[in-house]
Amino acid sequence: MRSMIYFDSAATTQKPKIVIDEITRFYSEEYGTVHRAVYDSCLKATEKYEAARRRIKSFLNADEVIFTKGTTDAINLVASSFISEGDEVLISEMEHHSNIVPWQLRKAKLLVVPIDDKGEIILSEFKKKITKNTKLVSIAHIANATGTQNPIEEIIAIAHANGAKALIDGAQSAPHIPVDLQKLDCDFFAFSGHKIYGPTGIGVLSAKKELLEQMPPYQGGGDMVDKVTFEKTTFQPSPLKFEAGTPHIAGVIGLGVAIKYVQEIGLETIAAKEQELLHYATQKLTDLVTIIGTAQKKGAIITFIIPGIHPLDIGSFLNLKGIAVRTGHLCAQPTMARFGITGAVRISFSFTNTFAEIDILVASLQEAISLLR
Ligand SMILES: Cc1ncc(COP(=O)(O)O)c(C=O)c1O
Repeated sequence: MRSMIYFDSAATTQKPKIVIDEITRFYSEEYGTVHRAVYDSCLKATEKYEAARRRIKSFLNADEVIFTKGTTDAINLVASSFISEGDEVLISEMEHHSNIVPWQLRKAKLLVVPIDDKGEIILSEFKKKITKNTKLVSIAHIANATGTQNPIEEIIAIAHANGAKALIDGAQSAPHIPVDLQKLDCDFFAFSGHKIYGPTGIGVLSAKKELLEQMPPYQGGGDMVDKVTFEKTTFQPSPLKFEAGTPHIAGVIGLGVAIKYVQEIGLETIAAKEQELLHYATQKLTDLVTIIGTAQKKGAIITFIIPGIHPLDIGSFLNLKGIAVRTGHLCAQPTMARFGITGAVRISFSFTNTFAEIDILVASLQEAISLLR
């Protein structure tokens, strides 16, 4: 495949060689199941699997780490095990579909905090909407459509003051900024492996242990049980209680190496480089396009429209130039509706992007405007 300038890291990140090598080594030289047997490859796979869990726990300063398929699966786990029909869940107008639909499927009562024209949550409205009946506040740390970085410390504190628990969707934050779950005191935190240089099909739900002990399992099957009879089954303590069936072992091991990779570069370094890219690109694009999402604090995401040119045409034109961007509703149709649009173009950065790549993007957009409008 030809090499591209890749500006779609918010959708999924490209993989460093050490992650690919580790997965290849596991499948070709070290393959075995986990937790179930006493032969060498099983013992080694189990050690690597649990070492990855320990690494992610220390990465997030987390109480407990459960492996899921991704952020979507993690939120669905909370919807299934923590929320019952009619429970009140408070979200915002900038959420990804995966922080909307699971609550609807569970028949929760969904309340939505509006956002302003910059894409910032209206905190006064949040304070009005939250009540003693709110069971869960579920908010993106960084919104994938607008790039807004939410004041989650304040949001979590307000949730707790009202007796609610807080879930932070960390899909767009864990890969890009330092996160300390003990400091945040958040109850649930979800992220996806494939957005943090790891494999697809693996992610994490981190949660407070005391909550997990009270929650019933999400799925039943092998490895999550203690004793099974036809009359009654007892379960393992968490995290295994929530990891039914043979897990995505290569995914977990690959994710462990991906986390090591970002730890070695350092989240502060990553965040600083990405903010430089964000500011540089924002400056260059401001007069050329209409930016959707101009919050004061943003992740390295710029969503925009160019009046008179369909986002898909911009995406196709950029593809011809060898530039990969996201187009469409960005899995956030209600956010699109809030801004009166049905779709947009999104560029999102990894710390590996360069200013020179942004210059090529800007020149290509200038050409697109002169040709297509
Ligand atoms: C903010 C946010 N939440 C949730 C998700 C869902 O992640 P996944 O598709 O990896 O489960 C995404 C993916 O784009 C996201 O950006």
